[in-house]
Amino acid sequence: MRKKHVIGNWKMNTTLPEGLKLVSGIIDLLANNAGVKKAAGETFIGIAPPFTSLSDVSALIKKTPGAPLHVGAQNVSSRDSGAYTGEISAAMLASLGVSFIIVGHSERRTLYHEQNDEINQKVLKTLGAGIIPVLCIGETLEERENGQLRSVIDAQLIGGLASVAPDAMKKLIIAYEPVWAIGTGKSASAAEANEVHAIIRARIKELYDEKIAEAAVILYGGSVKPDNAPALIAQKDIDGFLVGGACLAADSFCGIIGA
Ligand code: PGA
Repeated sequence: MRKKHVIGNWKMNTTLPEGLKLVSGIIDLLANNAGVKKAAGETFIGIAPPFTSLSDVSALIKKTPGAPLHVGAQNVSSRDSGAYTGEISAAMLASLGVSFIIVGHSERRTLYHEQNDEINQKVLKTLGAGIIPVLCIGETLEERENGQLRSVIDAQLIGGLASVAPDAMKKLIIAYEPVWAIGTGKSASAAEANEVHAIIRARIKELYDEKIAEAAVILYGGSVKPDNAPALIAQKDIDGFLVGGACLAADSFCGIIGA
């Protein structure tokens, strides 16, 4: 039985005061809404605020004993240290107690031209620092319409996982995010998403083995909301969500956890 995961990617949203307010709202609902509280007991819940809020958000969570919230980062450098102005290393994030890092998000791939080999370096640096990588993969609408779904997923999976040892696969999380569903309000249907999740799981089995494939946590991302979450999570190969827009309000993020 794979654990359910709900991870919120705040992207470039929230100043520090706004971020602290959002976290307080989430902590409050996790403690006081019976349905959300019950679901939270069985779910890995993560939030990925901007780098500028990581310390203070972590401190606020620590001040609330029992708050079941993990803090993660949205990106990491592919280098260890040195003259890389503006970059943040995995060791720096580890020193803050960050528990996961989102790697290879489609916005990084598209807007910042990150390629599979750089993304692979980020995955390896993240694992090396003892942090869980959340490796994002997914096709554009054009690629899907051109019949390239499998080859794109394959290249992103094989490229992103190069040199990842079988043992490390037990920590790694995959997020399938069709690019055409991100921030568009147009989610993949539950069946459409599950079909790709099954392809990914089958590929992991080929690359590693059946046990690792069965244990692999594969999240869906792309316009997840409280109202479409139940149908998606009912699918056999969908283990949870990477949430963008809907994680910026405590009630909709917790609504997805409740679902
Ligand atoms: P969205 O974003 O939920 O706003 O579609 C998902 C993501 O980018 O992870």
